[in-house]
Amino acid sequence: MINQKRSHHCGVLGKDMAGQHVILCGWVSKRRDHGGLIFIDLRDRSGIVQIVVDPDTAGSSFKTAEDIRNEYVIKVSGNVRLRDAETVNANIATGMIEVMADEIEVLNSAKTPPFYIQDNIDTDENLRLKYRYLDLRRPEMQRNLILRHKVTKLMRDYLDSRDFLEIETPMLTKSTPEGARDYLVPSRVNPGKFYALPQSPQIFKQLLMVAGMERYFQIARCFRDEDLRADRQPEFTQLDMEMSFMEVDEILELMEGLIAYIFEGALGKKIQVPFQRLTWDEAMDRYGSDKPDLRFGMELINMVDAVKGSDFKVFNTIIENGGIVKAINVKGYAAIPRRELDGLVDFVGIYGAKGLAWMQIQEDGSVKSPIAKFFSEAHLANILKTAAAEPGDLLLFVADKPAVVAQALGALRIEMAKRRNLIDHDALAFTWVVDFPMFEYDEEEKRYVAMHHPFTAPRDEDLPLLATDPGKVYAKAYDMVLNGTEIGGGSIRIHRRDVQKQVFSAIGLTDEQAAEKFGFMMNAFEYGAPPHGGLAFGLDRLIMIMAQRDSIRDVIAFPKTQSAACLMTQAPNDVDEKQLRELHIKTSLLMKKENK
Ligand code: AMO
Ligand code: AMP
Repeated sequence: MINQKRSHHCGVLGKDMAGQHVILCGWVSKRRDHGGLIFIDLRDRSGIVQIVVDPDTAGSSFKTAEDIRNEYVIKVSGNVRLRDAETVNANIATGMIEVMADEIEVLNSAKTPPFYIQDNIDTDENLRLKYRYLDLRRPEMQRNLILRHKVTKLMRDYLDSRDFLEIETPMLTKSTPEGARDYLVPSRVNPGKFYALPQSPQIFKQLLMVAGMERYFQIARCFRDEDLRADRQPEFTQLDMEMSFMEVDEILELMEGLIAYIFEGALGKKIQVPFQRLTWDEAMDRYGSDKPDLRFGMELINMVDAVKGSDFKVFNTIIENGGIVKAINVKGYAAIPRRELDGLVDFVGIYGAKGLAWMQIQEDGSVKSPIAKFFSEAHLANILKTAAAEPGDLLLFVADKPAVVAQALGALRIEMAKRRNLIDHDALAFTWVVDFPMFEYDEEEKRYVAMHHPFTAPRDEDLPLLATDPGKVYAKAYDMVLNGTEIGGGSIRIHRRDVQKQVFSAIGLTDEQAAEKFGFMMNAFEYGAPPHGGLAFGLDRLIMIMAQRDSIRDVIAFPKTQSAACLMTQAPNDVDEKQLRELHIKTSLLMKKENK
């Protein structure tokens, strides 16, 4: 048994430690038996170091080392020594040295793990999620969680130094206004009633402004029952903030400062501020997206004027009916295989486009295209000029209603950039998207809905339009976009009751409905609500990009699958009937069983 306490972490041992005696603890990452010598790669949170077990120096511990397997937890006592030049391992931080063991103690044995505990494993993610505690032992996953810790610490430091207070808001609460489905929690003591888990702390943070807290933040868990994707989880974390007496410019500047502070502090990267600002209209027009990826160009080009008056009926009819024609220029890809082109037609179909037209600009400047015959020489010349097309380029056209063109070509732009390898994966392209439309029309519900949320303030100049033409009202809302991901969003809020009432009425809420849903808030606003506004960052998304990962699951310790399940704990699961009875709940599934 080794009586001394652990003296060092594995990953910090370097050549300056040579000659020193150390006590290490950790997991056996690898064990190699070279007959006379045994090598153990010992791993703890800080890194990996090589242990050498020589029967001459390790004595009876050599026998112990022979029986050790991967992932055993061991304690090692030994001397640090410089490696011979030819055995230096440049791949690991401790590669200049090794530790000559004099004693080894097995603290615990381990079963053989279902996958290798190392970086870049090609293992089914479901298996990783089932054994998440093993997955999190892998250095890359540890690095992600360490980064996450660092970033939240920096956020707290920055906000504290700017007079923000960290305040907790309830988890058991009432439906919030973010527009996804709620997770409901039945109340045992109030039969038949339910709490909703917060989709965000929106209402409470605004009430904290009414309460005179002036600057609030919280690293807040949010719950949204929506269809999941790589960058969405049913529970996720926001850095949520709210500020009184501040207008858009001040808030954006403060947030840019925060982002620059955490990138510098956590990654040592200097971020250029201020960020560029695009209005929502401009973002949609140029990139077909309200979260444009600005790491590459390939902007959407309006071709309406260039194609007008040709013999191509498809375009003509669409333009006559208020539609538009846009194109992207995929530089140097005229030689695209025909099969890939056919695939692109299917690709834009997913986004509702009814077709895709293309022009391949040949080396002699002539145009190869199934639709070229409908265009005169002058038309073709004008098309090439509008698209700044040169020999070797490929033009891809979509004609449809503006929203469909934006969706389809916006997605195609990103797809083609990926295929053509145009994205610099080290680049950090920040932009604000500002001046969002206040409302969007919900075809299903046949009414306007708030694009951000109904507490967002309309632009002052658009107030008169609230009652007459809500579709034309823009909001004091802003999103921060990084590399094509919306990492944060917020707005200046309505603090006047009359404006709030008009907004509720524009989204079809009657006074009674508004009072029932948000009455307590409207009441509060009659007691002196200061002008205020705020923003929330999606912490998981931000860390995902900082860690250069493709999924937020890689930066969340215990995430859920696409079907909102936890494969490790098996949640959600069946519950006892007794529990349900206490909660006054009968599920329709249960009733079906009973009726059988
Ligand atoms: P919003 O709904 O835009 O705004 O959310 C803010 C940010 O949270 C992140 N996010 C998500 N991340 C992971 N999984 C999800 N399901 C998910 N949904 C959103 C995004 C997003 O930008 N109360 C307002 C903020 C405000 O107005 O101050 C709000 O919640 O990165
Ligand atoms: P059609 O006359 O429908 O066979 O279409 C002729 C060409 O125009 C084909 O290459 C179609 O893919 C393309 N096309 C059809 N509809 C559209 C559209 N809405 N936008 C862009 N191209 C289209």
